Amino acid sequence: MPACYQQQHHIAVLTLGSDVWIERCLQPFYLSQKQLEHVRDQILNNIERGLQKEPQKPSTLKMLPTYVRSTPDGSEKGDFLVLDLGGTSFRILKVKLDSSHKVEMETEVYAVPEEVMLGTGQQLFDHVAECLGRFLQQRNLKRAVLPLGFTFSFPCVQSQLDKSVLISWTKGFHCAGVEGKDVVQLLKDAIGRQGDYKVDVIAIVNDTVGTMMSCGFQDHSCEVGLIVGTGSNVCYMEEMGNIESVEGDEGKMCINVEWGSFGEDGELKPIQTEYDEQVDKTSFSPGKQSFDKMVSGMYMGEIVRIVLIQLAREGLLFDGVTTPPLLIKGCFQTKDVSAIEDDHSGADAARKILTLLGLRPSEQDCLKVQCVCSAVSARSASLCAAGLAAVASRIQHNRQDPEGRLVVGVDGSVYKMHPKFSARLHHALQDLAPSCQVKFLISEDGSGKGTAIVTAVAQRLADQRQRVNEVLAPFNLTLEKLKDVQSLMRKEMDFGLRKETQPNATVKMLPTYVRATPDGTERGDFIALDLGGTNFRVLIVHVGKREDVGVQIVSKTFSLSQEVIQGTGIQLFDHIIDCITEFQEENNLRGRRMPLGFTFSFPCRQTSLDQGILITWTKGFSASGCVGEDVVRLLREAAIRKGNSDLMIVALVNDTVGTMMSCGYDDPACEIGLIVGTGTNACYMEEMKNVEILDDSDGRMCINMEWGAFGDNDCMDDLITNFDRDVDQFSINPGKQKYEKMISGMYLGEIVRQILIILTKYRILFGGKISQRLQTRDLFPTKFLSDIESDTLGLVQVRSILTDLGLRSTCDDTVLVKEVCTTVSRRAAQMCAAGIAAVVEKIRENRELNTLKITVGVDGTLYKLHPHFAGIVQETVKILAPQCDTQTLQESSQVLRDWRSRVKVQ
Ligand code: BG6
Ligand code: GLC
Ligand code: GLC
Repeated sequence: MPACYQQQHHIAVLTLGSDVWIERCLQPFYLSQKQLEHVRDQILNNIERGLQKEPQKPSTLKMLPTYVRSTPDGSEKGDFLVLDLGGTSFRILKVKLDSSHKVEMETEVYAVPEEVMLGTGQQLFDHVAECLGRFLQQRNLKRAVLPLGFTFSFPCVQSQLDKSVLISWTKGFHCAGVEGKDVVQLLKDAIGRQGDYKVDVIAIVNDTVGTMMSCGFQDHSCEVGLIVGTGSNVCYMEEMGNIESVEGDEGKMCINVEWGSFGEDGELKPIQTEYDEQVDKTSFSPGKQSFDKMVSGMYMGEIVRIVLIQLAREGLLFDGVTTPPLLIKGCFQTKDVSAIEDDHSGADAARKILTLLGLRPSEQDCLKVQCVCSAVSARSASLCAAGLAAVASRIQHNRQDPEGRLVVGVDGSVYKMHPKFSARLHHALQDLAPSCQVKFLISEDGSGKGTAIVTAVAQRLADQRQRVNEVLAPFNLTLEKLKDVQSLMRKEMDFGLRKETQPNATVKMLPTYVRATPDGTERGDFIALDLGGTNFRVLIVHVGKREDVGVQIVSKTFSLSQEVIQGTGIQLFDHIIDCITEFQEENNLRGRRMPLGFTFSFPCRQTSLDQGILITWTKGFSASGCVGEDVVRLLREAAIRKGNSDLMIVALVNDTVGTMMSCGYDDPACEIGLIVGTGTNACYMEEMKNVEILDDSDGRMCINMEWGAFGDNDCMDDLITNFDRDVDQFSINPGKQKYEKMISGMYLGEIVRQILIILTKYRILFGGKISQRLQTRDLFPTKFLSDIESDTLGLVQVRSILTDLGLRSTCDDTVLVKEVCTTVSRRAAQMCAAGIAAVVEKIRENRELNTLKITVGVDGTLYKLHPHFAGIVQETVKILAPQCDTQTLQESSQVLRDWRSRVKVQ
C-alpha cells in the first residue's frame, strides 16, 4: 500500500473498529507501488509513441506541439492583454512586464453562464469579446491596440503560435461549432462583431504552458508546467529533433501532453473502479478523458458522491438514507473534498456539507466520508505523480542526465486548495522517480503572466528574427547576383590572359608549364614538399611498376610557427631545409641524391617548371625578402647554407595544379583543379592561343588562375559586407585576396566571429555580453564551421564545442550560431561555384562545344570536411552552367596525389 494511504487506512481501522467496508469499497482506490510504476511506464511509452509520426500503435496522449520554443529570459517587457478561459473561472488580465522582473497585473473575473458553456461557439466567443470590451472600456483602453495572449485550456492542434484548432471540448464545455475550427479566428471574428475596439492576437497557449512560462520568469530552468485543477494536464520542453511532426532539429519546443486522454484505449481499465465507470457514463464525453476523470477536480467530487450513495444504499452510511439533493449530479464538489480533508476543520466541514445535502450524519458518518474523500484524492495525487514521473524520466533521457534536477511550475485549484494533495504528490513522486530531484514552483497568479510572457517572447522573437534577417541578408545571394559574379570572373579571366591587360589584371592567370595530365608510366624515387596549406609536409615516394602497385610512401608533417612564416625568408627556407634533413636522416636517405618536387601554394610567375617568382604572399605568410624572388633559388640557397647537397629541385607546382594532375590520373576528363582550404584557388587547361603572354600557340597549358585576388580592383564591392570589410581590415594583407576572404577556411571563422559580435551587441546572443574570448581574433579555426554544421551532432555537442572555445551559450544561442555559420559557408560555396561556372563555361566556349563533360579535381580541408560545402558548390554550378556536365572528384589520398604530380612534372 502506498505510504500516503497507510495513515488514512490506519485511522479508519482504529476509529471504526471494523474495516469491512473499507476493504470492500475503498480498496480499489488504493494503488500499489507496482501498479503506479506500471502506469508511469505506460505513460512514458505513450509519450514516446506520441512524438512519432507513424507509431506502431497510436498514442492516447495527444503530445501537441505548442510552437513555444524558449523559456523566458527575463528581458520580456511591455503591456499585454490576456484572456484565460477553461479553468474554474474566466479571467481577463492586463499584464505589465518590465525588464527589472516586475510584473503588474490587473485582473477581472467574469462568469461563464452554463447556457453559454453549453450553447454555440458564437455565443461563447461573443460573450468573451463583450467581456473584453467592458474590461477595456473601464480602463480607457479601447483605442490602444494591445497585443493579446489567449490561455485556452483545451486540446488544440497548433500549426503556429497564433493558429490553433480545437480537437475536442473537455471539462464541461460543449459549445457547438467550435471543434475542428481555429479558435484564434473565432475570437478575432467575435471581436470584429463588437466593432469598437481592436487587439492584436499574438499567441494562444494552453494553461500548462502559461504556467510553465509564469514560473520560468522566476526560475529560468523551469521546463515543465503542471495543472491539477478543474482538468489536469502537463507540458514540458522536448528536443525538436524528437518531434517528428514539426520540421527542424534545433532547440526545444514545448509539448502539450494532454494526458487527460490517457487510457482512452482501455489501458487504465485494470485500475478503474465501478465508480469511475459510473462517472464516465454520466459525463458529456463517455469513453474520453479517462485519466482526467480519475485525477482532476471536475470529477473528484463526483466520484466521492457516487461512493457515498453506494455506501448509503448498502446501509454503511447515513443509516441507509439518501436524500434527493445527494442524488443530483455535481452536488458534491471538489472544494467540498478539500474542506472535508482538512485536519482541523474537516469533521465540522463534513457535517455542514452533508447537512446541506439534507442528510443527518453521525460522527462516524463524518469520519467515513473523510476516509472516502481521502481515498479518492490520494489516488488522484499518486496517479498524477506517476504521470509526472514519466515526464521526468523523458526529460532525464533527453538530457542524458541520470541525476536530473527538474523544476515544475504548477497551478490548479486541486493542487493549491486541497490541504494534502501537494504533499501526497511530492511523496509519491519520490517513490516513482527516485533519481530525480524535483522542485515545484507554484504559480501564484495563474497562467496569465505566463501567457503574457509567451506573447512577449513571440513579439521579441519576431523583432529579433527581423534583426537577424537584416544582419544576414547581405549573405543571401540571389541567382542574379551569382550570375553577376560569374560574368565578372569571366571578364577578369580574359584580362589576365590578354597581353595588354595582364600586367594590371587582378586574376593573374599564371602559366604553369604543365601541358598534360599524367599517363601512369612514371617511375622512380622522389622527395615532395608541400608548403602553404594547413600542414607543411615532407614526403618520400618510391614508385615502382603500376601493376605491382609499387608505391611506397613515407611522410611527415611539421609545424610552422607564426615566427617562421612571418619572419625572414632566410629563416623560413632554412627551417624548411632543416625539416627535410631531419626527415632524410630518419629514413636513412642522407647521401642519396633525389629529385624534389615543391608544391608551393602561393602565386608565382613561372618561366619554366623549376623557376617561379613569388608575386605576393597570401594566407597569413609574410616572410621578408621573398616577394619578387625565385623561390626555387631561395630553397637551393638554403640547402647550400645548410650543407644539404642531396636535393635536386626539379619542379615547382601550385597546389591546384597538383590536385588537377592527381585526379587526372584517375579521370582523363579532369582538367580543372580546385582548392578550398586555408586559401582558395583554381587552375584549368587553357588553349595556348589564348595565353597571349606566351608565344607558343599550340596545344594547352594549365593556368594557375590565382582567383583569390578576384575583386581586388573593387569590381565586386557591392557584394562585400561590412563584416568582410572588418575581416579584411584586420588581416595581414588588407585590400588583397578579397574573393579568397569570402570563401576560404582561413577567413570564414573570422566572418562568423564578426557577425556574432554584432548580434551580441544587439543583445540577441550570449545575453548581450561580449566576452573576452569572443574578441579574440582567429577564435574559430576552419574546422569550427565543419563541426558546428555537422548533421550528426546534437545541439548538446554543438554547445560543448562553443563551451570549449570559452563561449557559454544557451540553447537558442547555439541554434543561432549554427545559423550564422550556415549562412556564411553557404555564401562561400555559392561564390566558389560562380567561379567554377565561369571556368567550365570558358572551356566549353574555347572548344566550341554545345555541351561539355568535365571533371574538377578538388582538395582542401574546407571542401573535404565541411558537411554541406561540396553539395552546394555542385548544385550551384549546375544552375549557373547548365550546358556543362560538371563532375567533381576528391583526391582521396593526398600522398598519392603528391607523387603522381611530382612524377609527371619531373
Ligand atoms: C592539401 C594539400 O590536401 O590541401 C595542400 O596537400 C593544399 O597542397 C591543401 O595546399 C589545401 O587545403 P588546406 O585546408 O590544407 O589549406
Ligand atoms: C483539460 C484540457 C487541457 C488542460 C487541462 C487543465 O485536460 O484538455 O488542455 O490543460 O484540462 O486545465
Ligand atoms: C592561396 C594561394 C594559392 C593557393 C591557394 C590554395 O590563394 O595564393 O596559390 O593555390 O591559396 O591553397
